[in-house]
Amino acid sequence: MKKPDEIKICLGSSCFARGNREMVNEIKNFLEKNHISDKVVFRGSHCLGNCENGPNMKINDEVIGDINKARVKEELSKKLTK
Ligand code: FES
Repeated sequence: MKKPDEIKICLGSSCFARGNREMVNEIKNFLEKNHISDKVVFRGSHCLGNCENGPNMKINDEVIGDINKARVKEELSKKLTK
């Protein structure tokens, strides 16, 4: 069976202060709306070591920087809904 997709949202202090606090709900809502909450592992992470390009999230092995609400939705639709 295919490994479930994994989303990590950086909750390190730099990303947290730059908007990721709100992104947690944004991502949760997206997963619920698209009925994929049970297919995706979603968790917070420590600093991803990419603060200068933050706020960051990670989808599987790819770090995505400079996220905002619109970008989060775009990336999640592109990578997780087919
Ligand atoms: S705090 Fe998010 S990459 Fe460092």
